Amino acid sequence: GFTPRIFSGIQPSGGLTLGNYLGALKRFAALQGDQAETVYCIVDLHAMTVWQDPEALRNRTREAAAAFMASGVDPVKSILFNQSQVSAHAEMAWLFNTVARVGWMYRMTQFKDKAGKNSENVSLGLLAYPALMAADILTYQATAVPVGEDQKQHLELTRDVAAKFNHDYGVNHFPITEPLIEGAATRVMSLRDGSKKMSKSDPSDASRINLTDNADAIAQKIRKARTDADPLPGNMEGLKDRPEARNLINIYAALADETPDQVLARFEGQGFGAFKPALAEVAVATLAPITRKMGEFMDDPAEIDRILGQGAIRADEIASPILERTKDIMGL
Ligand code: ADP
Ligand code: NA
Repeated sequence: GFTPRIFSGIQPSGGLTLGNYLGALKRFAALQGDQAETVYCIVDLHAMTVWQDPEALRNRTREAAAAFMASGVDPVKSILFNQSQVSAHAEMAWLFNTVARVGWMYRMTQFKDKAGKNSENVSLGLLAYPALMAADILTYQATAVPVGEDQKQHLELTRDVAAKFNHDYGVNHFPITEPLIEGAATRVMSLRDGSKKMSKSDPSDASRINLTDNADAIAQKIRKARTDADPLPGNMEGLKDRPEARNLINIYAALADETPDQVLARFEGQGFGAFKPALAEVAVATLAPITRKMGEFMDDPAEIDRILGQGAIRADEIASPILERTKDIMGL
């Protein structure tokens, strides 16, 4: 069997959102403990699959590190580092480029979304992205990966790479990693469009709550969030055809550590005129301390760099022997 080990990552490709917090960061912090080793990575090599200004990328990598720590990821309990500092990720990704099939890559919905009609003129890295993600995970022989819904297909590809490698080389070298997609906020939606996920790359700032938004901005975005005019029902079943309403209830539930049905039991019969200010209140109460702590960490970039450097040393201690063994199996 494989040692229980949790791995996950976030791209430093823009300001982080409430979706990243509820779908990822909050859960990363909660998973720290004695059950499994936790390895968390700021995946700067992934961010580069679309153009990044070098100085902005460096700053956003630090800002992501600050967001991890402000959300409760402890760099002593967990290993916190950035991908480009541990060369095993890039090396393993090349090995997996020889295992994974081109057709697997073209089937990825994230690739189709990001490439759009321009699929011949995007970076080769954007297409190969899932092979690097498989490398991130399997270089630690990670047994579980907490992610949001949007990453489910990439994680299936990671499992396919592990299974094909094990089969082709006749070994049991890589675990078939389990996705941990749990809770009310596995897919936080845009505040402007209930059919799109909340994303740092959405051109509309009103569509998302940023971890750096102040209380007024949060309250205003929630007040203007698209909803309908109907009163709230007593349970989630009643919101089947109301995606915007469902999204706000899910966000409230995730912030307050309640189930969506518990939230609705309290707000049954009320409209959004009553619900939105209550949601703004829990959102501000949760995010204000995180925003403040992020600012404090960002006041000392040298300390962030020191923490990431330490994390990279610890990550490399796990990754290097697994990479060496992988090369050996492959005849390298
Ligand atoms: P983004 O999609 O915002 O660029 P990343 O690709 O870096 O973010 O994803 C980082 C983590 O945050 C992943 O686990 C992803 O599933 C999660 N995540 C991103 N957006 C959302 C969302 N709207 N709801 C829930 N989880 C999300
Ligand atoms: Na994503």
